[in-house]
Amino acid sequence: MNNIEVLISKEEIDKRVLELSNELYNKYKDDEVVFVITLKGACPFGMNLFNNYKGKATLEFVRVSSYSGENSTGNIKMKLPLDCDIKDKNVLIIEDIVDTGKTLEYLRNYVKELGCKKVEEITLLNKESRRIVDIKPTYIGFDIEDYFVVGYGLDYDEYYRNLNFVGYIK
Ligand code: IMP
Ligand code: MG
Repeated sequence: MNNIEVLISKEEIDKRVLELSNELYNKYKDDEVVFVITLKGACPFGMNLFNNYKGKATLEFVRVSSYSGENSTGNIKMKLPLDCDIKDKNVLIIEDIVDTGKTLEYLRNYVKELGCKKVEEITLLNKESRRIVDIKPTYIGFDIEDYFVVGYGLDYDEYYRNLNFVGYIK
């Protein structure tokens, strides 16, 4: 796929994921955390993070959708709800990218309504300049400019998720 320009390499991602998983462990220590991966985009990042996390954690998935092609419809739909009890638990929402912030706001409200003890959010990428909703994820992998990016889970019409780096279409 030589029409993709590398923005963040696999090595940079791996290094940052290690830093983040250590940061999370230093925060939670012996406290249990539910890692909630947002399908499908956050799978590679979430699994890398989960694999490197040294504390007590469980793994769950949720799926919402709002995008078609390069455009957010802004209309968030729950496609696959959480299949576990998160009442009184620490929840870590894992996202691939926070763009307008609508998806993260929706997910945060969703887990709060399910009665979790505490919710934090982590995203591989953050596009601050595109924010519509006033929301800041607790942990950020990389702040990026307003590029439409693909790879490492991120797609353009379902393609490119399998790239092991983050790039943009030339
Ligand atoms: P938000 O609700 O606008 O913050 O959008 C969040 C979701 O939109 C992400 O979880 C992605 O699935 C998708 N998204 C936003 N920006 C990009 C991008 O640059 N490339 C691929 N998907 C994106
Ligand atoms: Mg996503």
